[in-house]
Amino acid sequence: MRKFAVAGAGVIGKHHGKVISQLADQIELVAVADVDLSKAQELTAKHGGKPYAGLTDALRTQEIDVVVVCTPTGKHGELAIEALEAGKDVIVEKPAEITVEKTDEIIAAQQKAGKLVTVISQHRFDPSTEQVLGAIARGELGRLTSGIASIDWWRGQSYYDSGDWRGTWALDGGGALMNQGVHTVDLLVAALGRPVEVFAYTGTLAHERIEVEDVAAAVVRFESGAIGMLHATTAAYPGLSARLQVHGDRGSAVIDNDQLVFFQVTAEGQTPEERLMGTNTAREVPTAGSDPGMLSDAHKSQYLNFLAALDGAEEVRVDLATNRRSIGVVTGVYESARTGRPVTLS
Ligand SMILES: NC(=O)c1ccc[n+]([C@@H]2O[C@H](COP(=O)([O-])OP(=O)(O)OC[C@H]3O[C@@H](n4cnc5c(N)ncnc54)[C@H](O)[C@@H]3O)[C@@H](O)[C@H]2O)c1
Repeated sequence: MRKFAVAGAGVIGKHHGKVISQLADQIELVAVADVDLSKAQELTAKHGGKPYAGLTDALRTQEIDVVVVCTPTGKHGELAIEALEAGKDVIVEKPAEITVEKTDEIIAAQQKAGKLVTVISQHRFDPSTEQVLGAIARGELGRLTSGIASIDWWRGQSYYDSGDWRGTWALDGGGALMNQGVHTVDLLVAALGRPVEVFAYTGTLAHERIEVEDVAAAVVRFESGAIGMLHATTAAYPGLSARLQVHGDRGSAVIDNDQLVFFQVTAEGQTPEERLMGTNTAREVPTAGSDPGMLSDAHKSQYLNFLAALDGAEEVRVDLATNRRSIGVVTGVYESARTGRPVTLS
């Protein structure tokens, strides 16, 4: 039985408490740390463990195997590094940190500690995503030509006012693209490969009292030559969907709100029908078992991958290096919007 501690008992910390309870045959919640002790107490009352006002106390007094970091993003590095230095494996919520440099600090601490770290990017584990990435890996979409990652969501001013870290550069690290859009950026990068350049515009158009953008639009060039578009907003009332489109010269796929809504590919050994002009002939392809909505069962699937990795049976599917690439795209968008120039991504 592996012993888990959760640091940060807010919106997503509560969800992790639930996931840990769902996996009670393999793991147990032994500690919850939150600077607001009442939140830690609320979570332990529901899912077990001892409440603490800080991770340091929990690490000092409890036997812990894995620390789950669910604090505001700009605090992830500090807590993840503290856990790694204490010899723990770490699950860190997305995005790993607010900059590539801070992500590199966690990577350095991980390498020194020789421990495992996964960054939550639960939509990588959606059946729809797995189907599309599998088809890409088998070459069934052919040469990848372009992709679109778009989230057109709504967050009221009350959302940004609900935590003093929300909408700040120091702790949220950005707005619609860094906080909400990073999931879909991560899927676009998983589909199209290494991003090399980005050009962007951003704006803050429908909210007050936030430092960051509530709309971002960008073009990304990938190493393969494929071209991607990013669109992320929390200013699209009443809030529509998160959508990924991937196109190649042998097929296309569209995921909308975690569901595969278009999928037409050409299997190995087959030749795509020559067409003067294409038309949309594919039927809608519903996928089984994918629960639309932000907090589906996908977190649990990512936990199962991490537990298998701890047992040496699987590789960690979303590691720090993977998430670093998405953070690089997002911070490249901000730099481009600020300078008015394309930004080369390292
Ligand atoms: N994977 C997802 O779908 C998803 C969804 C929501 C949030 N998140 C991520 O989870 C993180 C937290 O977001 P949230 O919405 O839960 O925020 P939140 O404000 O609801 O919760 C954060 C909690 O952390 C606590 N905290 C702050 N500093 C701390 C510290 N040093 N030690 C211990 N606790 C501390 C706060 O008191 C608060 O209870 C963010 O990085 C966010 O991007 C991911």
